[in-house]
Amino acid sequence: MLDDLYKTYIVLITEEYVDDPSVLPAATLSKRVFESMNKKGWHKARLLDATGTPFNPENNPKDEFERDAINALISGKTYFEKIEKIEGKDHLRAVTSVHAVMKGCISCHPDRKFGDLLGGIAYNIALGE
Ligand code: HEC
Repeated sequence: MLDDLYKTYIVLITEEYVDDPSVLPAATLSKRVFESMNKKGWHKARLLDATGTPFNPENNPKDEFERDAINALISGKTYFEKIEKIEGKDHLRAVTSVHAVMKGCISCHPDRKFGDLLGGIAYNIALGE
């Protein structure tokens, strides 16, 4: 559900507002929403790169789970998940794929083709609360 929500608005924002590469990209906006969800104590989410040449090095996979997830996406999977204990509590860690679903994506990610895998969204959700 969360994933659908984020992706729907990323596509809508790109469709409605982005006609020139200098505007605030949906990626930057999503990162602000992720941050705000986390500050309020909700789930964590992170935008990940799968191309090896991210706009922002912050989006490189950071730990073993994220690296395994990105490798799974590169090999063609659209979803990767694992239950991990973090500070004694079970967490669902899941990554879903992000593709260049619109022509508009290419205007800022020009080294990619329409339909290519660009990255993923990583979710980290505490279970059993
Ligand atoms: C207006 C320019 C622009 C458009 C249009 C755009 N992006 Fe991006 N994208 C960026 C920028 C800038 C970043 C880096 C944001 C950051 O981390 O601060 C980024 C980052 C990303 C990342 C994380 C990997 C990386 O390179 O850092 C993914 C995945 C991504 N965009 C996918 C998409 C998809 C899918 C679309 C189309 C729905 C899209 N982008 C459209 C500018 C754009």
